[in-house]
Amino acid sequence: MFVLAQLTDLHMALRPRLSKLASKRVLGFINWQRKRKFVHRPEVLDAITRDVKEQAPDHIAVTGDLVNLSLPAEYRRARAWLDALGTPHDVTVIPGNHDVYVRAAVPLPAAYWGDYMRGDDGSEGFPFVRRRANVALIALSSGVPTGPFMATGRLGQQQLSRFAQTLDATRGVFRVVLIHHPPLTPPRRSLRRLVDAADLRGVLAEHGAELLIHGHDHERAVIWLDGPRGAKTPAVGAPSASARAPHGHENAGGYNIYRIDGDAAAWHCEMIARERGPDGTVREIGRHTLF
Ligand SMILES: [Fe+2]
Repeated sequence: MFVLAQLTDLHMALRPRLSKLASKRVLGFINWQRKRKFVHRPEVLDAITRDVKEQAPDHIAVTGDLVNLSLPAEYRRARAWLDALGTPHDVTVIPGNHDVYVRAAVPLPAAYWGDYMRGDDGSEGFPFVRRRANVALIALSSGVPTGPFMATGRLGQQQLSRFAQTLDATRGVFRVVLIHHPPLTPPRRSLRRLVDAADLRGVLAEHGAELLIHGHDHERAVIWLDGPRGAKTPAVGAPSASARAPHGHENAGGYNIYRIDGDAAAWHCEMIARERGPDGTVREIGRHTLF
């Protein structure tokens, strides 16, 4: 049995000096002041972090949007949070769109969190692979800087073709794909979509994976993607780990746990949903056998 926990969309923010902000960050800061600072709360993240540590998973995946405006102080704070969460051996991080909010921020996730974002072979860049027991964690980066009011993501042809090779090279172990953006987005959210999602689904349909986990939507969701020879791959979204309460379509703060068992002849995977309730305690709210 291998137990993987997934935390995502922390949106850790600090109060910046407005005069230091430029371009997209000004709009992001105004949005934060008007809405998001009431949604993403440090006390919620603290409760979720305590709970995940009590659950003592074998590994923790953090699937992007650790920070909010890609400010250096935010990365430093996220780094301190990661250090308290677990070692780079036991925690894997991928960036989201808020981690590369503006062009100048592109090198910053690797600069601050590089040891959490590296393959077993020491490789930097994406995809990278970490093998733990009979599980291969395959990390993708869909975070790219975008214009105002956009939150799209992109993998690009180079990453997609290396991803296809990686899926082939890890066949036989339980392949978990980590990506920030969901592989399918309804039209009403098209400004938040992964622009090459169809290509991603094409690679999965041809090369297969056992599980895909993502964030970005702040919603717990499961959809099934086509795999090779009639196989299906569940794509599972997790809620924000810092949301105070349900907001719009989005869930209250929580996270997912995946219990992986079996072997290539017959894998078993169970998803456990945990959520922080109105009384501030974190508890299990559902259990779902994926296969
Ligand atoms: Fe996001």
